[in-house]
Amino acid sequence: MEKIKTILNKFIKQKPKFEVGLDIGNSSVKVVQLCSKPNSKLKELVSFDVQRFTYPVNNDTIAATIKTAMKNANINVTSVNTSVSGQAVIVRYIQMPKMTKDELDKALKLGIGKYIPFGVDEVNSDCQILDDSDKRSKMMRVMLVAVKKDIIKERIAVLSKAGLKANVIDVDSFAIVNSFQLVSQENKGIIAVLDIGADITSTTILKDNVPYFNRDVSIGGNNFTRAIIEEFEMTVEEADELKHNPQTRYGDLITAIRPVIDSLADEMQLSFNYCESQLGGSVQKIFLTGGMAKFKGIGKVLSGILGVDVEIWDPTRILMVNEALPREKLVETGPLLTVAVGLALRG
Ligand SMILES: Nc1ncnc2c1ncn2[C@@H]1O[C@H](COP(=O)(O)OP(=O)(O)OP(=O)(O)O)[C@@H](O)[C@H]1O
Ligand SMILES: [Mg+2]
Repeated sequence: MEKIKTILNKFIKQKPKFEVGLDIGNSSVKVVQLCSKPNSKLKELVSFDVQRFTYPVNNDTIAATIKTAMKNANINVTSVNTSVSGQAVIVRYIQMPKMTKDELDKALKLGIGKYIPFGVDEVNSDCQILDDSDKRSKMMRVMLVAVKKDIIKERIAVLSKAGLKANVIDVDSFAIVNSFQLVSQENKGIIAVLDIGADITSTTILKDNVPYFNRDVSIGGNNFTRAIIEEFEMTVEEADELKHNPQTRYGDLITAIRPVIDSLADEMQLSFNYCESQLGGSVQKIFLTGGMAKFKGIGKVLSGILGVDVEIWDPTRILMVNEALPREKLVETGPLLTVAVGLALRG
């Protein structure tokens, strides 16, 4: 049957497929549109935009910001892939006795309560078998995700105000892995992907491209901004400007934000220690992404503290890029687009 489909497809003229990923972060909206060409695995980035929120941030201003981003990117669709993150999202990697997906769904329906800090009725949950290939083991690795229903309702309401529907509602950390797996073949061994946003840093640890661990901590760019405000007695706008363009004050700036970097590195080290005990090896490389990956020198400082190589990860580097797109803006914003690219890749 599959063969017949393939043969028929050769004769039916296929249209290129466009997918939109919309990342509604804590500081800004990021949107990308990818095009998949028929009979090709390659994806082309056809449009993107980043729009920061203006204060006060509420559902009306978020919806208005989404509309502006969609308009700037010239995207005219009504349904998008989007995601949620933060305290209301729980991701767990667990071991379960080997069973089918149906059996797993039933088992977790009864037993999910012990893995999440919320009431079972408060969440939507799902699970995925990650690795059951070890013939010698009776156990398999399972990824479990639970998202509070409130946050999903809230997201749907914001989208609706912006005239949009959700095609897929994903979780930021899965979108990051999805986007990272574009280059995954090159990254065997144990590696960490770190997305430092405005309020949240999401750490995912993968072994041979299979995600083993995820943890979100509430430290991000806003903590850096607050440290700068306190040290230099500046306004938020001035601190933000200094963060983007440190120029001659770089040394003072690093001293001011060092306690924030140290707390972040402590959290990373905790995650690394846990994984290393489970995976029997140490983290070989960190891929850094998200808005704070753009902060000058952050990779070098983190690498110095953690003793692990750090590379800045820009997901757009391995996409085909439409010739009409502004290259300079893309280089400037690439690492901010990781979640949005991962969402658009969901198809
Ligand atoms: N060029 C830059 N130089 C320094 N800092 C930057 C730069 N661009 C963005 N940032 C910082 O990155 C942070 C925003 O990153 P990002 O857009 O990934 O966050 P978000 O997705 O909105 O937030 P979250 O992931 O927490 O929901 C802000 O603190 C911002 O000041
Ligand atoms: Mg983010």
